[in-house]
Amino acid sequence: MKKQWWHGRTAMQIYPKSFYDANGDGTGDLRGIIEKLDYIKSIGVDIIWISPIYRSPFVDQGYDISDYYQIDPGFGTMEDMEELLREAKKRDMYILMDLVVNHCSSEHALFKKALADPEGEYGQYFYFRKGKGNGQPPCNWRAYFGGSVWEKVPGQDDLWYLHLFAKEQPDLNWENPALRRRVYDMIRWWLEKGLAGFRIDAIINIKKDLSFRDYPADRDDGMCSVHNMLKHASGIGDFLLEMRHETFDRYNALAIAEAFDIKDGELPLFVGDDGYFSSIFDFSTEGLCKSRRGYFASGLPSVTEVRDTLYKSQAEMGDHGFFCNIIENHDEPRGASRYLPVSGQNDAGKKLLGLLMHMRRGMPFLYQGQEIGMMNYPFRNIDEIEDIGTLNEYRVALAAGLSEDEALAAVSLFSRDNARTPVQWSDDPQAGFTTADTPWFPVNPNYREINVRAQEKDPDSVLNFYRSLGALRKDPAYAETIVYGTFEPVLQEYSDLYAFFRRSAGKQLLVLGNMSEKEVTVPVPAESGDPHKDLKVVLNNLKHLEIQKNRITLAPWQGVILDVT
Ligand code: NOJ
Repeated sequence: MKKQWWHGRTAMQIYPKSFYDANGDGTGDLRGIIEKLDYIKSIGVDIIWISPIYRSPFVDQGYDISDYYQIDPGFGTMEDMEELLREAKKRDMYILMDLVVNHCSSEHALFKKALADPEGEYGQYFYFRKGKGNGQPPCNWRAYFGGSVWEKVPGQDDLWYLHLFAKEQPDLNWENPALRRRVYDMIRWWLEKGLAGFRIDAIINIKKDLSFRDYPADRDDGMCSVHNMLKHASGIGDFLLEMRHETFDRYNALAIAEAFDIKDGELPLFVGDDGYFSSIFDFSTEGLCKSRRGYFASGLPSVTEVRDTLYKSQAEMGDHGFFCNIIENHDEPRGASRYLPVSGQNDAGKKLLGLLMHMRRGMPFLYQGQEIGMMNYPFRNIDEIEDIGTLNEYRVALAAGLSEDEALAAVSLFSRDNARTPVQWSDDPQAGFTTADTPWFPVNPNYREINVRAQEKDPDSVLNFYRSLGALRKDPAYAETIVYGTFEPVLQEYSDLYAFFRRSAGKQLLVLGNMSEKEVTVPVPAESGDPHKDLKVVLNNLKHLEIQKNRITLAPWQGVILDVT
């Protein structure tokens, strides 16, 4: 694998609406990001992905873009964006935008033209099809946000357009070379401006099974999941390689894909030196215990299941390419609420999660607020939910027979809004996120205990531990091993225990993490070499570590990095 400029870096996702509101209107903005750049840098983060800031009607929080060449006024102006790029550069930081090109907004000029004349030139930019007759859409695929993927064209008898997400997010027709050219022009336009690259949204969906046939229904609604068609769609690689050559390659840009549903054995096509992308997120644990029937039928995986899944995905990637490692993002609940058992939802547990994420091979990719241990939001009422996806899941739960309270409890566990609450900057009103009386989304009531200002003052805070992790990745004594070293699990017979080596020429680190409320004593693995030599503690999330001759006792939720060279 060729070394790349971004491999040794650390990244963070910003969800701009909830990051920091500089102009006091209750919504986060670009100037808010500029004001906080030094803070972000202080965590060791030098790459920032900003969720969509383009002009949008915000049906899906900006993932419905009506103009790819403009900043949405809610976030600021193009001048603000240019200033952000300049300020980032001064600090040796890099900005990535969200590339949402599976679909646009139904308010986009191209779609309006297409609707006006579906048979004409612009109709070719989207998918228009005749229905089956009798008011039946062309096929029985269910949209990700519920209902059919087909919406009737207003004023037409039996003509429908395709939208895999909301009906306000019509799918773009990648089969049309003119559409692809437009997309590549737009990508280059932003890269010219000084963007370092993109996070690429829902990209697997750009290739459709063009037969638009029915698949067996998987719910009482008579429809089937889009995943059926993704299994049958083939040839996406042609589009993705073309995009890479036409755009990213020309700028040495960082292209990180959100790519679910990669077919078995195809991972090597997606990443690595000749892959379609620079990297992809490791979502392997995201789907654990999740039911295709909906959130309501899903559960939380055990610690050991999560561990084994992560080990497996590390093995699959090997040294072929580089994952982006996450515990949460704007589509997921908070990692500390999801991956830590309740008894571990404390500072030690949160530090341990961070340590394990940073020490896997790949680039650590934080989500705003993770570095202070933000938690899920305690929803009391379905009216508190904004997210189109969660509202759909709530309806699905009710339709399955759950009571309103049960449905709320079920969707609260996984709601995307959990991670979309404002960042907790201080214990001032509205957590210091805004000076407005009402932020666009309520602040988590735990902001008095969990906030940046309090943690700045506490040398043992979760925030300062994340700073140590960020610094360690760049420490010349360890960087080569942490960034490029092999990943070798050991002691797998111990449940709830993470134990792995990271090895590079002349250096080996042993990472141990006790993900349980019970103390555990483990032998120092034989692979560490001489059992009598001193083990050097590089980082420890607790004050002490009990090392006897060739055994180590880990306290509950303890995580350590040992230099066993
Ligand atoms: C994935 C994004 O992360 C999510 O927030 C969005 O709803 C869908 N893609 C559609 O763009």
